[in-house]
Amino acid sequence: MQLVICAIYSMSMWIFSAYAMQTHTQTRWKPEELLVYAQENDLRLPKYNYTIQQNGKNVLQARSTLNHHGACFDPEDPISKSFMADIADHRARKTSTSISTCVLEIGCGMGLLAKKVLASSAIRYDGNEPDYDNFYYVGLDLSKEHLAIATQEIAKFKKHEDFFMGVWDPYEGKFPYVSFGEETFTHIGAFHVGHFWTDEECIQSLKTFESLLMPDGKAYILMGNPHTQVYGPIPSLIYDVRKFFGTEFAGYVEDVPKIAEQLATMGLVPKEQIESPTFKEQIADHYLFVTPEDLCSLVKKHTALNIVYSGTINMHQGDKIMVHTGVIVKKESNYTVTDYLNSKK
Ligand SMILES: C[S@@+](CC[C@H](N)C(=O)[O-])C[C@H]1O[C@@H](n2cnc3c(N)ncnc32)[C@H](O)[C@@H]1O
Repeated sequence: MQLVICAIYSMSMWIFSAYAMQTHTQTRWKPEELLVYAQENDLRLPKYNYTIQQNGKNVLQARSTLNHHGACFDPEDPISKSFMADIADHRARKTSTSISTCVLEIGCGMGLLAKKVLASSAIRYDGNEPDYDNFYYVGLDLSKEHLAIATQEIAKFKKHEDFFMGVWDPYEGKFPYVSFGEETFTHIGAFHVGHFWTDEECIQSLKTFESLLMPDGKAYILMGNPHTQVYGPIPSLIYDVRKFFGTEFAGYVEDVPKIAEQLATMGLVPKEQIESPTFKEQIADHYLFVTPEDLCSLVKKHTALNIVYSGTINMHQGDKIMVHTGVIVKKESNYTVTDYLNSKK
């Protein structure tokens, strides 16, 4: 009897750990495999659904994701632009002894930013061996379909044979459950992805940025702000009330489709909005909205990273203001084991 119980116990533990591993593994794809996958499944960059304006000009085109995780945007906001400028600067300062530029973009979606960074770093062939090995761009996303589209977009640029660009290295996986080595990346980008984390994942993600960044490296975060107007007045109201009562994650909203349905029934959100195909394609189960102050206090509480910039980024979607939280953090060059241990307290 004891033997049977023991066998059942170890089998259930094995199944449990296999399940846990399966949900937390990362798969590294070869770009060629993703190109075949895109062709077999007839995947291509979708047409844009709407545009977003800044200072009266159309700046971003939004394309629905294929997995109900919002939309993929052109990288024209100021945080993406400083990310690109910082990478270009790192590449420009390169000497024969300096470290490679190693970028990780989490939630890279359909590769709109990756393509732009890789294309702008391309070097025209001048008869010498190119040193494109010196520039790695790791794109991590939950969706293999998105990665396949991203690879297709990047490959369009690579067709120009007299150009060499960095190495595009696509991974399927979920941040922060990743197994990249410590101090691997010079730059980390997280654009329009942090609002899909849970509160625990948000803390874990900040800690993971700290361990994955090389000293002198920076992480760029652009995520949803509770005072955005595009989801109606409710997220902002819920946030303000909870904040008043001292809730740490005042902007965490669970079961969003159900809440949206209830709000529409109560007449607080237009029914047409939640019934529109774009809304249904883009809406996720839960959202985490944070203000720059919220994100900065989490960074200070859980890491020894320095805050280089924090602020709100305002854009317009039609007549509504779309508010984002932008934060840039840095692991200082004199970062020590003591800093690391202090951040673990
Ligand atoms: C709103 S889209 C933004 C895509 C891209 N960053 C952009 O700005 O166009 C969010 C993307 O993040 C991915 N994603 C969401 N949560 C993720 C996570 N925890 N780890 C990795 N990717 C994630 C989704 O699959 C989706 O492609």
